[in-house]
Amino acid sequence: MDYAATAQEAQARIAAAPDLDALEKLRVEFLGKQGSVSALLKTLGALSPEERQTVGPQIHALREGVTEALAIRKAALEQAELDARLAAEQVDLTLPAAQTPRGSIHPVSQVLDELAEIFADLGFSVATGPEIEDDWHNFTALNIPESHPARAMHDTFYFPDVDAEGRKMLLRTHTSPVQIRAMLQQGAPIRIIAPGRVYRSDSDATHTPMFHQVEGLVIDKGITLGHLKWTLETFLKAFFEREDIVLRLRPSYFPFTEPSVEVDVGFALVNGKRVLGGSGDAPGHGWMELLGSGMVGRKVIAAGGLDPDEWQGFAFGVGVDRLAMLKYGMDDLRAFFDGDARWLGHYGFSAFDVPTLSAGVGAGA
Ligand code: PHE
Repeated sequence: MDYAATAQEAQARIAAAPDLDALEKLRVEFLGKQGSVSALLKTLGALSPEERQTVGPQIHALREGVTEALAIRKAALEQAELDARLAAEQVDLTLPAAQTPRGSIHPVSQVLDELAEIFADLGFSVATGPEIEDDWHNFTALNIPESHPARAMHDTFYFPDVDAEGRKMLLRTHTSPVQIRAMLQQGAPIRIIAPGRVYRSDSDATHTPMFHQVEGLVIDKGITLGHLKWTLETFLKAFFEREDIVLRLRPSYFPFTEPSVEVDVGFALVNGKRVLGGSGDAPGHGWMELLGSGMVGRKVIAAGGLDPDEWQGFAFGVGVDRLAMLKYGMDDLRAFFDGDARWLGHYGFSAFDVPTLSAGVGAGA
């Protein structure tokens, strides 16, 4: 048998295969279980050792030649198919869009951008911490020990397992643990805001199990309550874009601040809606609780690895969703997280309206 001629004929047929289907049929015809080349290979066993010495290499060469020809033709056909598809599926990017994109910036994202912009102007940088926290950062370091009633008040979501250090893991109930992380990581002085998601097992028209807070922390030498009040006033005037924002500071209690101050903001009732501005004591006005704050407690500063005799500071925590509702007029918090395209279309912001102080942080409203 003329193996070289057989090989030549097979390779010619393979090279002429018009498509991948035809090529696969040829592969089966030659190399399949019942294939002609496979059949030749099977005859080797019946040959004498001498015959095998001469015929064996020829049959193997035949098989290799066919295998290689199949691979080459396959690559060529696949390349041709890809080229054809690329040509057919070409997109003309210069054509006008068939539909205007409908995406928008969520009010929470918008407010977070506004906050970062306002506080950057005051020299604050943005810090972050994990949403899955341990109970030391979320509670203990913030002067909320194991038996403290504040732990129960936080309606905490706990994980069943503890971490490598035996600490209970939880979904952070506030952004205050970032105070501790910031002090431990960057030392003093500090000027940060820490925005992010927080979690509490609570749900109605004004509470969702996940919501957003922004923490503020300043640590330096000689920081007083006056600095806190000025910072909050400056921030809220810039955020609500009104010079007549009036704050009322009330003594309060948080385990991690001493003294602690609850901050109310004055509003006027206009057509049944609360419009911020003016003293809450004026006729037709009222006070609305807005945020918690205070001077960072000595124990907290020490837990952050700093000497409380050397460093002082203030901290505050605000609900970001609440700020968005007050500024942009939504009244049901749950709708924030429904992902309803109509709601987003109504309350969302253009991605091209980046908040800047010079243009007014809420210019896109
Ligand atoms: N972490 C507090 C809360 O979630 C708010 C707060 C922050 C109060 C910082 C004082 C200082 O209610």
